[in-house]
Amino acid sequence: MVLKGHRMLLIILDLFLCKTTRGHVFLPQNPKTVSMVQELVKEGAVEALKKCFSSRMEFGTAGLRAAMGPGTSCMNDLTIIQTTQVVLITLRSGGVVIGYDARAHPPSGGSSKRFASLAAAVFISRGVPVHLFSDITPTPFVPFTVLHLGLCAGIMVTASHNPKQDNGYKVYWENGAQIVSPHDKGISQSIEENLEPWPESWSTEEALKSPLLKDPYQDIHTQYFKAIQKHCHHRDINKSSKVKIVHTSVHGVGHTFVQSAFKAFDLHPPYAVEEQKDPDPEFPTVKYPNPEEGEGVLTLSFALAEREGATVVLANDPDADRLAVAEKQESGQWRVFSGNELGALLGWWMFRCWEKLNSDAAAVKNVYMLSSTVSSKILRGIALKEGFHFEETLTGFKWMGNRARDLLDQGKTVLFAFEEAIGYMCSSSVLDKDGVSAAAIAGEMISYLATKSSSLSQQLTAIYEEYGYHISKNSYFICHDQDVIHSLFDRLRNYSGQKDSYPTECGRFSISAVRDLTTGYDSNQPSNKAVLPTSRSSQMITFTFSNGGVATMRTSGTEPKIKYYTELCAAPGNSNVTHLKKELDDLVDAIVDNFFEPEKNKLQPKPE
Ligand SMILES: *[C@@H]1O[C@H](CO)[C@@H](O)[C@H](O)[C@H]1NC(C)=O
Ligand SMILES: *[C@@H]1O[C@H](CO)[C@@H](O)[C@H](O)[C@H]1NC(C)=O
Ligand SMILES: *[C@@H]1O[C@H](CO)[C@@H](O)[C@H](O)[C@H]1NC(C)=O
Repeated sequence: MVLKGHRMLLIILDLFLCKTTRGHVFLPQNPKTVSMVQELVKEGAVEALKKCFSSRMEFGTAGLRAAMGPGTSCMNDLTIIQTTQVVLITLRSGGVVIGYDARAHPPSGGSSKRFASLAAAVFISRGVPVHLFSDITPTPFVPFTVLHLGLCAGIMVTASHNPKQDNGYKVYWENGAQIVSPHDKGISQSIEENLEPWPESWSTEEALKSPLLKDPYQDIHTQYFKAIQKHCHHRDINKSSKVKIVHTSVHGVGHTFVQSAFKAFDLHPPYAVEEQKDPDPEFPTVKYPNPEEGEGVLTLSFALAEREGATVVLANDPDADRLAVAEKQESGQWRVFSGNELGALLGWWMFRCWEKLNSDAAAVKNVYMLSSTVSSKILRGIALKEGFHFEETLTGFKWMGNRARDLLDQGKTVLFAFEEAIGYMCSSSVLDKDGVSAAAIAGEMISYLATKSSSLSQQLTAIYEEYGYHISKNSYFICHDQDVIHSLFDRLRNYSGQKDSYPTECGRFSISAVRDLTTGYDSNQPSNKAVLPTSRSSQMITFTFSNGGVATMRTSGTEPKIKYYTELCAAPGNSNVTHLKKELDDLVDAIVDNFFEPEKNKLQPKPE
């Protein structure tokens, strides 16, 4: 068996290292990658080689995301060239922008900067003008540049908050948003059909000297901060606000950009966490470079805040497209806001600022806010009372970005979009989440609240009192077995033995509506047809309960998980929080007992 696997691998390796069917040299010209493979072959590391070569990484919902290393399943010079060649042949003509973060993987010779220059070489070799940033930038700079310069695509080389060995490749289309179907599927298929690298694709040195190559860094730096200044509405508050803020960029790209953003808003610069402020691909002070993991990532920030007497911590993820916020409470404890809570605060703030500038009551009908289906419905509560529109999109900012584009094209104002995974779009200059503008806007909101002797926590309570409490609880089960996942979801859609017979109650809770975005069923729509796009390849069912509860169960495209997202949306005036929390806990227990039970011994609970 091993021998057979080994032989097969040697054939693949032979192809990889030597010749294609057409006889061209197919060598990955990164000597480090080559020697890594040779080492593995010498050691007879069949399993490791299999992992690298036996499958091809998929160009999926967020582009590419995989470990850096040799082989078809990894991020390396060759797979970057193959992908970029296909992006190129899929494009309309026009220029492209390419950005990169600070990731590097010395053993395989891969780095974001190297991958970005290879991508540039591919475009230049076919006469496409390239705007290649000469230094690291936050991810949102790429979609900003696509719109600002009217380009036909943008590529960002980043693995965001993934572990240090990973990298990724994100593609934005000419509309300024991440690519969606059919372009993503088209690219995915064409890669298989176009594996052979063009010889010139390796010529990074020539490309870097080409007159087709421009460095947009200075110009975009200026233009970006000018654009986000539109959202600075309280330029005078720095004089009266005494609030002190700490910022960490978690060894990523965010530091200088957030400092500049605060400057653009005339705010006192935040105190930077010294150990984490400079880019470092080893992420030495954190276990995972993900501020969503909460307190562990923020330990150094809290320590600095205590030393400086700061009461708020802002944290970006390493590519600065997301933002986490924590606030010191009167008890002395730190409260890390959930993505939903920060969504409520920023949504409220964006609307208040808009309202201040727009006294015309009719204009509110033109205003939209968006959030993903698994995020809090608090914006719906605010929209109902204030008279603007709220819409849900599928999970992931590519959906919100593209929906925002449609609305903008119809002349609407898109004030704000967010998802619970701490992603916020506060400015339509960037049709994606943006942790830099969100940090400055949060900074202004915090300073403003401080001048009113209020805090984020107090304001959040005020929002809930005014628009209704929204309490959420999200978790997941781990499941590696697709059959178990299928039988669990199929049972829910076949509850009384017939197709589309979903449960009508769950324990003591009665269900008022069901939306199944795997099959396209929605009990709330005429002829039960869901409006949002459906996808057979992932599981997602949303139950709405008569008591104001909403629960979505879904599988994750990238992890072996069944996630569940629950929220209790109370009517304004119902402020018995103890009761609401108890009601939500009971609802979650009922869901776990009734909907997960038959498969429960095959699922692992979320680790504590
Ligand atoms: C505070 O605002 C004033 C007025 O806009 C500005 O001149 C000053 O530089 C600001 N101070 C800081 C520390 O940003
Ligand atoms: C639903 O249940 C019926 C009756 O038990 C069964 O015949 C059918 O195959 C089920 N359909 C699905 C999709 O599981
Ligand atoms: C709030 O809810 C709790 C638990 O359901 C209940 O015991 C309590 O009486 C309620 N308080 C008020 C003020 O209604």
